[in-house]
Amino acid sequence: MPAQERIHIADDFDVVTARSRAKDMAVALGFSRTDQTLIAAAISEIARNIVVYAGEGDVVLRAEHDRGRWALVAVASDDGPGIPDVDRALADGYSTAGSLGVGLPGARRLMDALEVDSEVGRGTTVTMRKWADGRG
Ligand SMILES: Nc1ncnc2c1ncn2[C@@H]1O[C@H](COP(=O)(O)OP(=O)(O)O)[C@@H](O)[C@H]1O
Ligand SMILES: [Mg+2]
Repeated sequence: MPAQERIHIADDFDVVTARSRAKDMAVALGFSRTDQTLIAAAISEIARNIVVYAGEGDVVLRAEHDRGRWALVAVASDDGPGIPDVDRALADGYSTAGSLGVGLPGARRLMDALEVDSEVGRGTTVTMRKWADGRG
């Protein structure tokens, strides 16, 4: 398993690639079948947001030894328009695209931790983490 993997995201095919690489990494790290699926879904949502809102960006996946246990860490970054109100974007049902608005809040629930760092006119970085031992 590579320690770190970068997937350039520019279209829906890249979203599928990010999803499947995340799943492979989750398998290699010993995540349960359920967790593999949850991680793949979360990465898919965040990668899809890159395509829809920023046009392109990157997803970096890495295994991190953290406080004595393994975690899968995914960092999605873009140089897109940024998010004016991150708290609002993290609330259920908020969408500037007229879609469901459950991507970010859903991904936050599926992972153990999710942070959004965004600046209008500069871009957005979403960092997500899930620990492989299921303790959260
Ligand atoms: N990478 C991003 N760049 C700019 N805005 C974003 C990005 N990701 C999310 N957003 C903003 O946050 C909102 C909520 O995202 P999300 O929860 O995935 O719901 P949806 O994609 O259905 O709108 C989006 O409508 C958009 O305004
Ligand atoms: Mg979305």
